[in-house]
Parts: sequence; C-alpha cells; structure tokens
Amino acid sequence: MPDEKVSPAATKITAQEARPERPLRIALFGFGTVGSSVAKILVESKPDGLELAHIFNRDVARKRVDWVPASVNWTEDADAVLASDADVVVELAGGLDPAGDWVRRALEAGKSVVTANKKLIAYHGVELERLAAAQGGHLKYGAAVAGGIPVIPGLEQGLAGDRILRMEGILNGTCNFILSRMEEGAEYAAVLATAQAKGYAEADPTEDVGGFDARAKLAILMRLAMRVVVDPEEIVPKPITAVAAVDFSYARDLGCTIRQVARAEETGGVVAATVGPMLVDLRSPLAWSRGTENMVILTGHYGGDVVFSGHGAGGHPTAVAVVSDLLALAHGSRRVAIPSVPARVGAEFEVPHYIRFLVADRPGIVAEITGALARERINIRAIVQKPGYPASALPFVVTVEPCKSSALKRALASIGKMDCLLEQPLDLQMLE
Ligand SMILES: NC(=O)c1ccc[n+]([C@@H]2O[C@H](COP(=O)([O-])OP(=O)(O)OC[C@H]3O[C@@H](n4cnc5c(N)ncnc54)[C@H](OP(=O)(O)O)[C@@H]3O)[C@@H](O)[C@H]2O)c1
Repeated sequence: MPDEKVSPAATKITAQEARPERPLRIALFGFGTVGSSVAKILVESKPDGLELAHIFNRDVARKRVDWVPASVNWTEDADAVLASDADVVVELAGGLDPAGDWVRRALEAGKSVVTANKKLIAYHGVELERLAAAQGGHLKYGAAVAGGIPVIPGLEQGLAGDRILRMEGILNGTCNFILSRMEEGAEYAAVLATAQAKGYAEADPTEDVGGFDARAKLAILMRLAMRVVVDPEEIVPKPITAVAAVDFSYARDLGCTIRQVARAEETGGVVAATVGPMLVDLRSPLAWSRGTENMVILTGHYGGDVVFSGHGAGGHPTAVAVVSDLLALAHGSRRVAIPSVPARVGAEFEVPHYIRFLVADRPGIVAEITGALARERINIRAIVQKPGYPASALPFVVTVEPCKSSALKRALASIGKMDCLLEQPLDLQMLE
C-alpha cells in the first residue's frame, strides 16, 4: 500500500493552489476602536493574502493616520467603495442602520462581508447569510460575540459535531467589570463612573446593564449552538441595577458571588433563555472571570463541558477575530453549514433561587412568605438574616430548592402585595 502521508513539498503546493491569484482587497467601513486596530494588524503583520485598499468613515480627514500606507484610499463615499473592486467589506461602524444597508449592498454586489456587529447579526443574520449564499459571497462575524474569544469559530468548526444542550455565558464585559468590582466592596454608581471613565461603559449604559447587549449575543450563540433561530426580543433581560452591596455579602455566605449570566437550554425540545444577574458558585469558572473578561461554557450531549474565556472586547482582541475571519476567507476555508429552525423562546428554568427582601420588620413576615411559597409547592432551602441592620429597613434572604420559574413568579406576585415590603423582592437564579 502506498504511503499516504503528505510530503512537505506536496503540502506547500496545495497551500499555494488554495491561495487566490491576488490578495483579497479589503474595504474597512468605520475607523473607530476596532476598525483602527484591524488596520494596524493588516499594516504591521501583513497577513498573507490580505491587502488593505479602502478606509471609509464620515469626516474622514480627522481619522487619517501616518502609519497607513499611501496606497490606501481614505474616503467618505460609501457608494464608491461598494462599487469598487474591493473583495471584502469589513463593517465596523456598528448599529442597524446604515450599517445594514452597506452590508446588504456589498453582498448583493457579490462581495464578502466580515463584521463585528452583534445587533445586525442577532436581528438580521439569517437573512444576510441567505443573501451571501445566493450571491456567492460569504458573511463572517466571529468577532460579534465575545470579541477576541473564538467562541463562534469554535462552534462552527470544533463543536459542530456535538449537540449543545445548554450554555451559560458572561457576554458583557461592562457588567462583569461592575459586578466583580462590587464583589470587592465598591458601590454600583461609583464603579459605573469608573467604567465610563475607562471607556468600558457608554454615557448611557442601558444596553449593557439592562442586559440588551448580552441577549443579542445569546441569540447569535443559540443559532449556532442549539440551532434555533430566535427573536432576541423574546429573551427577557433583567438589569444588574437591582443588585446591591448587601447581595454580595449574602451571596458570599452562601458560597457564591454574582455575575451577569446569559443562559439558554433545551429540554425535551423546549428552548428557554434568559439574561440577568445570577448567583454563581465560587468554585464555578464563571466566578473566576473578573474585570472585562468574558466566558462561555457550552455543554454538549456527547462532549460534555467546553469553556472559552479571555478578552471579550477591546480594539486589539476584537480585531484579531476580524482578521482571522479575513484569513479564513483568503485561504478558502469554509465554515460548516449549520442548519437552524425558527423557535419560540420560553423563560421556564427549574433551578434554585435566591430571594432578597427589604422589609420594615413586624411579626409574621416569614410565615406569610413561606405560606405563599408553600401554596406553589416551593421548598425553602434556607432563611438567612445578617445582624446589624435596623428593623426599619431589614434585608434578609430566602433561598429555595429548584422550582419552576413560573411557580416562583406566581408566589412572588402574591408576596409582592405585603405591606411591610420597602421594595419588590430581588429574585436571582442560582447556578449550581
Ligand atoms: N469596541 C469593542 O470592544 C467591540 C467588541 C466587539 C464588537 N464590537 C463591535 O464592533 C463595531 C465597531 O465598534 P467600535 O467600538 O469600533 O465603535 P467606534 O469606536 O464607535 O467606531 C465606529 C466607527 O464607525 C464610524 N461610523 C459610525 N457610523 C457611521 C456612519 N453612519 N457613517 C460613517 N462612519 C460611521 C465612526 O465615526 P465617528 O468617529 O464619526 O463616530 C467610528 O469611526 C460595533 O458593531 C461594535 O458592536 C466592538
């Protein structure tokens, strides 16, 4: 039998053959944090088969830098770039419009598109992928979730052979920065101000702290991992703003900390997904992620748990993911086509919960709460009350055994009417 090993010479010839005759001509749309980092890598590292040809941005004169070669065309004319001989449009302007229009037109013109735009992909990814396939181009968005961490390429290639049943992720670096600082004792408002000063949080932080950014990313991952096309709007996010310093103190007593977690699972063909602050066991990898780090844990039917972690944002880490997508295009590597079907998203999980109350103390409060939980057949695991708080504003915590989210919601609706409550109870899922 002939030796089937490929000789180094043969490998070389194959690689050369796979390369296009000329480098891929790249048009950058948006020269901001990520766009300028992508240009930097293309200019400094000169990756094989890639050539930076156009940089489009509004008011482009103020964007010019001297390290970009003179051959690159700086322009404010998107139409001209879309009509040019550029092979790939790299969309790094962000938002749904006009970015979506540029991406559509580039694909219609038979070009390929690389983007880091999670919003565009979460809401229009399926339609744009279809358009790309119909026009003979490619749409790649490896940087759209978890920035520099190759979760999307990991799902498209390394895990395509498994059936992912469950995933849990820290997908928003801003929230992780805020919550991991609060874990060390800082107050929410002060940490948010620091995050804004460092450029981690927007002036209006609602997209991040409200969970909207994470749910868009979760919807993208659900399509690739669980193979369901979901409407991101059906994933109901819970803001991290309700979490107070006292919750970290109680969480620690329970052997946990608090992180914003995006989670989804499929049980018996039913898909559930949610985003919000959750208690995570201090021994869980999710508790180890600090600052702006991201982390994703994927549980496969065959392969078990796989953990991805690293820098989920920032110009350079995100640009690495973009350039890696470009290299994949230049070298003709094709993603595995992952079929997906439309699905409705529920929010029914069966997990233990942490419920924190803030009450003006009076006799009978615990009896009323336990009664309401018992009526929904929810078992109490522990009641914890720390000393040192005034009776006029007393925080205490009830943890419950795994119960259906819907049953707990009904119990809390009844508990929420109690006259002693100074605010609505804070209910957090506990990840075990
Ligand atoms: N930054 C990250 O860490 C990160 C991580 C993962 C994914 N992403 C995604 O990457 C994309 C880019 O993010 P970024 O942080 O680089 O944003 P950015 O710093 O705000 O850069 C966007 C650039 O696009 C330009 N631009 C925006 N709208 C435009 C328009 N209508 N016409 C012409 N130019 C326009 C902006 O020009 P001006 O300077 O005039 O505003 C700016 O130069 C977004 O989709 C984002 O979600 C970012």
